[in-house]
Amino acid sequence: MVLHFSKCRSVLITGASRGLGLQMVKQLVETTERPEKIIATARNPSAAQELLELSKSHAGIHVVPLDVVSEASIDAASQEVASIVGADGLNCLINNAAINISSDLKTVTRDTMMKTFESNTVAPLFVTKVFLPLLQTAAAKGTGMGVHRAAIINISSILGSVQLNWGEGATFKSYAYRTSKSALNMVTRCLATDLESEGILCMALHPGWVRTDMGGAIAPLSPEESISSVLSVISALTEKHHGEFLDYSGNKLPW
Ligand SMILES: NC(=O)c1ccc[n+]([C@@H]2O[C@H](COP(=O)([O-])OP(=O)(O)OC[C@H]3O[C@@H](n4cnc5c(N)ncnc54)[C@H](OP(=O)(O)O)[C@@H]3O)[C@@H](O)[C@H]2O)c1
Repeated sequence: MVLHFSKCRSVLITGASRGLGLQMVKQLVETTERPEKIIATARNPSAAQELLELSKSHAGIHVVPLDVVSEASIDAASQEVASIVGADGLNCLINNAAINISSDLKTVTRDTMMKTFESNTVAPLFVTKVFLPLLQTAAAKGTGMGVHRAAIINISSILGSVQLNWGEGATFKSYAYRTSKSALNMVTRCLATDLESEGILCMALHPGWVRTDMGGAIAPLSPEESISSVLSVISALTEKHHGEFLDYSGNKLPW
């Protein structure tokens, strides 16, 4: 796997306590040309034992508390991250934290819809807004587009594709999760339009169906397989991927 993170000095990942976020941290620290600063955020770091151990055994992993649905937590985290990245700013923000509450037509409730929308759609937008000055600082120092300069990666899902929610693609029933990821895709396109002139790359990425707490035991991909592909896609992003919805192999997905 060839990863081009040599010029990406800092990466921030939300939801790094377990699952795919934790796996990103694990693989990033092992890459030869790794980002100098890996900012692994978790809403309750003291419960994220594996992450804490990893941060003790590797240099440059900064564990920062961040509950993505709390404005106060986002503000506090952004101040801590500002002092970690300093004048370089932040090169790459990965909005990964999300929830999935089962919600077919029978079981869906207003509360499930609102909670899921808050975590999966509203939170990534407001995390991005608060961290934007740090991304802008990094963007002002570079040229072109990609993680060497400034990038916002929204971890979405193929289940958010409106076009693919038909026939076989409609087997997985979840009003809350599916709509939250469709809306996250729209947030991504809105950000891509607004931030293009500043050279900040924005895109949505589907990591595949993966064996995590969320993906379940019958998913075809291991976290290792998914994230090695995901990181290779992220590290190779250029202006041609700005505003796109891609899967873990780099294939374009229909909105
Ligand atoms: N697994 C799949 O098959 C699959 C497929 C497509 C897309 N995805 C997407 O991939 C991403 C990661 O999924 P995953 O499989 O790793 O899920 P997971 O195993 O359920 O882990 C979810 C992560 O999000 C964190 N999180 C949830 N709410 C949070 C909040 N308010 N503040 C901070 N962190 C919060 C959790 O933290 P705690 O430990 O504190 O709960 C945990 O670290 C998600 O965006 C998901 O939608 C996954």
